[in-house]
Amino acid sequence: MGKIIALANQKGGVGKTTSAVNLAAGLGLLNKKVLLVDLDPQGSATSSVGISKKSLRFSVADLLIGGCRPDSAIRQTEFEGLDLLPANIMLAATEFDLIEKENAESHLRKALSTLRDEYDFIILDCPPSLGMLTVNAMVACDHVIIPMQCEFFALEGLVQLMTTIGQLKRRYNPRLAIAGILVTMYNGRLALDTDVLAELKKHYPDRVFDTKISRNPRLSEAPGFGVPIYYHDKSSLGAREYLRAAKELLNRV
Ligand SMILES: Nc1ncnc2c1ncn2[C@@H]1O[C@H](COP(=O)(O)OP(=O)(O)OP(=O)(O)O)[C@@H](O)[C@H]1O
Ligand SMILES: [Mg+2]
Repeated sequence: MGKIIALANQKGGVGKTTSAVNLAAGLGLLNKKVLLVDLDPQGSATSSVGISKKSLRFSVADLLIGGCRPDSAIRQTEFEGLDLLPANIMLAATEFDLIEKENAESHLRKALSTLRDEYDFIILDCPPSLGMLTVNAMVACDHVIIPMQCEFFALEGLVQLMTTIGQLKRRYNPRLAIAGILVTMYNGRLALDTDVLAELKKHYPDRVFDTKISRNPRLSEAPGFGVPIYYHDKSSLGAREYLRAAKELLNRV
């Protein structure tokens, strides 16, 4: 049975999508069969793997409300081992609709239950909030990865996120575990970055991924070409670090 892993942090722009796309594609290169699920109405993960948000007949929004079968919404990508369950702005309305439904928090879990056996990994890219879509991701997944930028307020946000994860675990998903905190956009020459990292390791000694993702312009270029980093510049620092993080993830889960 495949493992379901959510990339979540309510803070915006911390590298959730970049990490979801490149960990998913990295696992694909490591011979795993991977489904990347875009759970953000912004549809950034969808565009990042070269699928047009406008051309979707069915998306994760339809799947969540039982409006289509999984295989109608899933798209193959051009990349090794990687399929996509796409999203676009329609998902914003679906989040609203979900709130009114019974078992609002469990729709994704139900939708993914039949897909689990078809994939080694299902990677969920969450939106920047703790709303119903992120709650659905936390209820559906086995592990959470928290991408985090070493900023002044990052630790505060982390405490809030850990509290929410604890509540959802108790209430809905006892098997929910934290796979780790992945430091993104790291610059070891900045005192702030090294200070925040030291603080993070002090509070969560076993949780922080050994692999840090450095700030690397190649990583921000790749989505513009609709390709994961390995297909944009496979010798870049970003490609090497995300592949190392994908290998570390295999050991952590
Ligand atoms: N390691 C990195 N080096 C350089 N730029 C990066 C890196 N990681 C992410 N970025 C860039 O930072 C921006 C935010 O990253 P990303 O979209 O992955 O964050 P996010 O948490 O998914 O954002 P949102 O909360 O809006 O969904 C993007 O423009 C992305 O290309
Ligand atoms: Mg994102």
